[in-house]
Amino acid sequence: MTSVVRPTAVDSGSPVAPERSPNRSEDIFSHLTDSIDRSERKRPLGPVSNFTVEQLPHCVAEIQRSERPNGAIKAFGRSVNAMIGEADYSGLLLRLPQCDFEIAKTDIQYLVNCTYQMSAFAGLDPSDAELTVGAELSRLASLTCQRQPSVGVLSYEDMILTNPVQSDPRLYCLGAVGVEERDFCAGHQLIESELQSAMDALLDLRDLGGADASRCLTQCVARLESAQDVLTRFEDHMSPELFSQFRAFYGKNPYRNTLGPSGRFSARVVAVSVLLVGEELFRQKPQFYWDLYRLSEYYPQTSIGKVFCWLSPDNRDAWLKPAWLEGKADFPRSATISPVVERGGREIERLHEACVCALDRFTRMHRRAALKHTVEPGRPLVGVEASESIEVVLCQRLLTLPP
Ligand code: HEM
Repeated sequence: MTSVVRPTAVDSGSPVAPERSPNRSEDIFSHLTDSIDRSERKRPLGPVSNFTVEQLPHCVAEIQRSERPNGAIKAFGRSVNAMIGEADYSGLLLRLPQCDFEIAKTDIQYLVNCTYQMSAFAGLDPSDAELTVGAELSRLASLTCQRQPSVGVLSYEDMILTNPVQSDPRLYCLGAVGVEERDFCAGHQLIESELQSAMDALLDLRDLGGADASRCLTQCVARLESAQDVLTRFEDHMSPELFSQFRAFYGKNPYRNTLGPSGRFSARVVAVSVLLVGEELFRQKPQFYWDLYRLSEYYPQTSIGKVFCWLSPDNRDAWLKPAWLEGKADFPRSATISPVVERGGREIERLHEACVCALDRFTRMHRRAALKHTVEPGRPLVGVEASESIEVVLCQRLLTLPP
């Protein structure tokens, strides 16, 4: 890597003012600007965070342009490790308050993932790639996983949930591609927040004796329809060309047998599905649950841990595959809202069906978007193992609904 001092804003020098941070669906994929609005700096690791935000996309572009990418990525690795060696980042990492720690973890995982992806781009063999990631960066990455158990590669949580997308996003790309990359993350965040509201309403209904069932289910339908509106924006406005450029950085780790940051690992999609149709899902698509336990390390651990507790109400270790999965016990209906719906009468049943249909429409629309942007153009898959069928994964929560 060169030691040139870089501009502090990650943009392409466009004279157009940065658009507002995308906190509504109409704001994403509007293609009005190619610069990023950094309204509030979030730099918990000081120089390391500054580097990740301000220099990393330039370094990536430089390695891609380089005539000797293999020398360029090795120099990048040396320079990152030298920077980390200059201060006690391990101590800092352990002392940070949780919200800062989460952003720091995102910074570190962005650096690690970038080093592996660019090493593969440059054709490094596995041992050279490990040397390039380097001891200092690897040690910091392990420390983040010690403080907060996680899969140890860039996760959905790092990319979408803890990336400060609205105020100071972590990105790999420059210019219009970087803005599309930011909007992709922002769109996921918008959907995650709708799913959180849908889930809160369903939890009120399931767990609070006196909850107003009609209000909870009406709120759930509205939130799922809103999530669908955001997904429509992805389907209609995300540029396949720009998408393919930034997606290259979010693939599977090319040297480890691990999956990449995929929406498949959204714990809220799982939670809403379990609450609404958990038992029927088990009857019709048991593979969904087998995959959930098999791939549990890729999900945000705290959130998926809560879902596992619902699914193992009597089990001391909720992370172990429950007996019902192997047909040795009944499915725990208490994890779902079905018992409450059954007691609620015809109107509540009708509202429940409306929620199930809204979730189903979301899943079908997602399948179309996934096929349009990734599967049909033949791009490598991020969150599907070699032994799995993509069609099965995209349909894993689709039920045969009553006519
Ligand atoms: C146009 C944007 C999107 C594309 C191209 C896309 C693509 C894909 C692909 C190819 C898969 C298969 C696993 C993989 O290789 O990653 C997948 C799975 C999945 N994605 Fe997306 N995705 C998009 C947006 C979203 C959004 C916004 C969410 C919401 C959180 C989401 C949630 C999921 C889920 C839950 C799965 C597992 C299948 C299922 O349960 O329905 N995706 N996606």
